[in-house]
Amino acid sequence: MYEVLSNDTLAPNLHRMVVRAPRIAPARKAGQFVIVRCEAGDERIPLTIGDADPAAGTITLFIQAIGASTKKIVAVPPGGFLRDVAGPLGMATEIERWGRVACIGGGVGTAVLFPMARALAEEGNEVTTIIGGRAEPYIILADELAAFSKEVRVTTEDGSLGRKGFVTAELKEMLDDPERAPQAVFAVGPVPMMRAVAEMTRPYGVKTIVSLNPIMIDGTGMCGGCRVVVDGEARFACVDGPEFDGHAVDFASLTDRLTMYRDHEEQCRLAV
Ligand code: FES
Repeated sequence: MYEVLSNDTLAPNLHRMVVRAPRIAPARKAGQFVIVRCEAGDERIPLTIGDADPAAGTITLFIQAIGASTKKIVAVPPGGFLRDVAGPLGMATEIERWGRVACIGGGVGTAVLFPMARALAEEGNEVTTIIGGRAEPYIILADELAAFSKEVRVTTEDGSLGRKGFVTAELKEMLDDPERAPQAVFAVGPVPMMRAVAEMTRPYGVKTIVSLNPIMIDGTGMCGGCRVVVDGEARFACVDGPEFDGHAVDFASLTDRLTMYRDHEEQCRLAV
């Protein structure tokens, strides 16, 4: 059992939870995730480890409550318990000294981006962070990212904060400016956003890493649930990823797989 130490709301339907997990906290690296079950028999939910405090033996999880299982997890109050927290899973982010990097987060993807961006900054990279969302309440972690970013650019679809429009508008300006052009781009967010970023950087030949979040079941490479096509080959996000070369990902098949489960999730939502 894993005790929930705090549970606060960062944005509509987005919670930040600190959980006691003394074996995971010292072992985790940026980019890795855990699989959480609220109670025995529940759906297994993959969640990025947003932060960790090895001395305190705690990890920080960001949870978007969009389905029946995630809503059940975020309903656990401080002092309550999660049945299973398995991890750390997945490959850690490949942290290199690229020089200038652009770290791009969309919506809750910003929470996944956070540990990657910080690790890149700690390696000595000059990090420009671009974060986007539907509207101001969906812009998260801007102050935390500003602590180590050279600059933080914000975009919202309705113009309520920062530039009106999408993250790609900010990225395009960087790519076209020799003084700001990144040597590598990291993007985490909705699939259409990651796809748009990868298509934008492709003609510039800029290395682009995306973090995929397909359906996961066992998290061990056995069930095949998280299969994605990369460079024409089947890969498993849970053991081969979750980060992949954005220019090699087959985003069309990924979109098809994600929509396959929508009806089932809707039935679960109506049942609770
Ligand atoms: Fe089962 Fe990845 S979650 S193979």
